[in-house]
Amino acid sequence: MSKTPPVPDDRSYHLAEWRKSSNNAYLTRLLEPLDVKPGAVVLDVGCGSGYVSAYFSRDKTVRRNLAVDLVPQTLRLARELSLERAQGPIQWICGQAEQLPVGTSSVDHLVCRVVLPYTAITRAVAEISRSLSDGGSVLLQLHPWTLYARKLSLNPRKWKTSIALMLILLTGVIFHFTGVLFRPSVGRWRIGETFQTLSRMRALLRRHELSIYRIQSHPEFLVYAMKYQNSGRAPSA
Ligand SMILES: C[S@@+](CC[C@H](N)C(=O)[O-])C[C@H]1O[C@@H](n2cnc3c(N)ncnc32)[C@H](O)[C@@H]1O
Repeated sequence: MSKTPPVPDDRSYHLAEWRKSSNNAYLTRLLEPLDVKPGAVVLDVGCGSGYVSAYFSRDKTVRRNLAVDLVPQTLRLARELSLERAQGPIQWICGQAEQLPVGTSSVDHLVCRVVLPYTAITRAVAEISRSLSDGGSVLLQLHPWTLYARKLSLNPRKWKTSIALMLILLTGVIFHFTGVLFRPSVGRWRIGETFQTLSRMRALLRRHELSIYRIQSHPEFLVYAMKYQNSGRAPSA
């Protein structure tokens, strides 16, 4: 069954992201709050074109640089592109955010940019928490509701897109109020994505021992969180 647009495994989308992300200063600003420690294991979940892993490959203090994506051809593209920019080994792994192919507490810093909106989000967050070491950090880039609302159109020729967008908004509202994610189908379309709100994400992350320490709403919706220390209490950060 096809997904609602934009299709996240689209080659031209990934190539555009790869070009956009050639800006080192931007990536440094984005990833700095993760506070990557020497000897760390880093993981990009839903790596797409692999620009985050290419960036990490230049940090010689990173011990293991892992990248996971669901789509084999996306991983092939990422591997090819990394030949241009990467400066160290990257382990490309085909796998699912909802069942991460890594050990428990084996990852120190994790990035997951514009992937959770397409996943079974509760399972994916549980997996992120499981794979992170105590005190490990994660960057999540999420979809705000405005991303979909501003694409709504009164143009009658765009009625299919508008219905899909309204269903996405409805799934997001249900997720916000109940924490339940449902994916309705319209004909051959399955509504394969949802928006996230800060309050729902805060509750979900807390349930999985992750505490938010930094938030950015604009121009990208970014949430940085830290895995609780052994005590099981939220870190003070
Ligand atoms: C919108 S793209 C973002 C790619 C990349 N993170 C970036 O910032 O450009 C979403 C990516 O997540 C991957 N993806 C979607 N659902 C996934 C899942 N359940 N598990 C792992 N990867 C997934 C897609 O194949 C795609 O590469």
